Amino acid sequence: MGLGGGGELSGWGRGGWGAGALGGGVGGCRGPRAALTGSPAGLVSRGGRDLALGAATPGWRRQRGATRGALARAGGRLRPLLRRQARALCAELRSHGGAPLDPFEVFPFHTCSTIGRLLFGDLMPPEAEVRAFTRCVVELLEVWGRASVRALDLLPALRVLPNPGLRELLRLVERRDAFVEAQIRRHEASPQECPSPPGDTVLGALQGRDPGVRGGPLSPPRLHMALVDLFIGGTETTAAALAWAVAFLLHRPELQERLRAELWRELGPTGTPQAGDAGRLPLLHATVTETLRLRPPAPLALPHCARRHTSVAGIPVPAGSILVPNLLAAHQDPDTWDHPEAFLPERFLAPGAPWRALVPFGCGARSCLGEGLARAELFVFLGQILREFRLEPPAPGLLPCLQVSAGTVLRCPPFRVRMVPCQPPA
Ligand code: HEM
Repeated sequence: MGLGGGGELSGWGRGGWGAGALGGGVGGCRGPRAALTGSPAGLVSRGGRDLALGAATPGWRRQRGATRGALARAGGRLRPLLRRQARALCAELRSHGGAPLDPFEVFPFHTCSTIGRLLFGDLMPPEAEVRAFTRCVVELLEVWGRASVRALDLLPALRVLPNPGLRELLRLVERRDAFVEAQIRRHEASPQECPSPPGDTVLGALQGRDPGVRGGPLSPPRLHMALVDLFIGGTETTAAALAWAVAFLLHRPELQERLRAELWRELGPTGTPQAGDAGRLPLLHATVTETLRLRPPAPLALPHCARRHTSVAGIPVPAGSILVPNLLAAHQDPDTWDHPEAFLPERFLAPGAPWRALVPFGCGARSCLGEGLARAELFVFLGQILREFRLEPPAPGLLPCLQVSAGTVLRCPPFRVRMVPCQPPA
């Protein structure tokens, strides 16, 4: 079943993650504080004061509106920022000298750094700190996704028992918060140290220092949690999609060659792929799109709570129901997609491709805030990688497993790839 049109989704908000909500389908639509107090979800979201888990209160609406506005303003700096980050990514890949590497050990730092630069401009913490923070963000999602921890959201009575996962989560949340807090304090204490004008950073805009962004300044907890959510929402998801693209392309070397030919034909010997080049690099665009279709990094999106009686694809949904959109299933619906399980970017080059059935970023009032950024990153990073390297398996025939496994973020099973610096195609 695909997801219904925007109208049907307009009555949705984010529900609590309280007992029965995820399992039973129709759980009580509890107020966020009541549902989140003391729970792992409450812990990671400061009691529901964040974007992703917060209920649709006036404070949340202001937070979301301001964050959306701030991201749009900072988007003006996206082109040079992505070019610089793509160069840094390729330099790190080149440093392996064509030896086999695990792409997931490289990509998250670059997706995290991109977000950091959008948030904090040119006053960034030292690289080692960003690398440590990246590991913290990735681990946090992994620990929060563990069954033993998720169970505490569903069965609060279990919270009285010792739970090593919960202790681990607490430790990671503390580290996460300390990093974000330190950046906010640094920018507040000496704004003149930051070479970027405050209006150019998401942080500055959310602090109300950009008159072009409505909704600011946010209260300190809302500001903190907005920044946290941008890091958490955008680091592992985007890195996972990039790693899936590499894995699929190892299985299709002839497609790699066609992509490389497109890149060299359109960009010549010195150009680099830019956000906004989709029109002249249609095969690259189709490859990113097909990756997001076949392996949407957030396969179950986030739970939605129906705030009033509504319907999805004609099925009645009573107010208070909790719905978990299965994006992975929607993207593999054989009624919509030919050969749904095959990696075929070419399907998006043919007329009549079902673009509207694609929802890797969700849809409606709670759709992903980082969609534009993620799409641009994937396009530029993958384009630059393919321009500079031939992707080869670590040994002949040793291709990555493409199977999906459970997890908050859909990650490719670990694999290794050789990134071999390449010459222009013949
Ligand atoms: C390929 C990369 C990404 C994918 C596939 C993805 C997907 C999603 C999905 C499916 C949702 C839930 C939508 C729903 O429940 O309907 C979501 C929410 C969200 N995403 Fe992303 N995302 C990606 C990258 C990013 C980036 C780069 C950022 C920020 C820099 C980000 C920030 C957020 C936030 C803040 C939310 C919560 C929105 C809300 O509840 O109002 N995401 N994302």
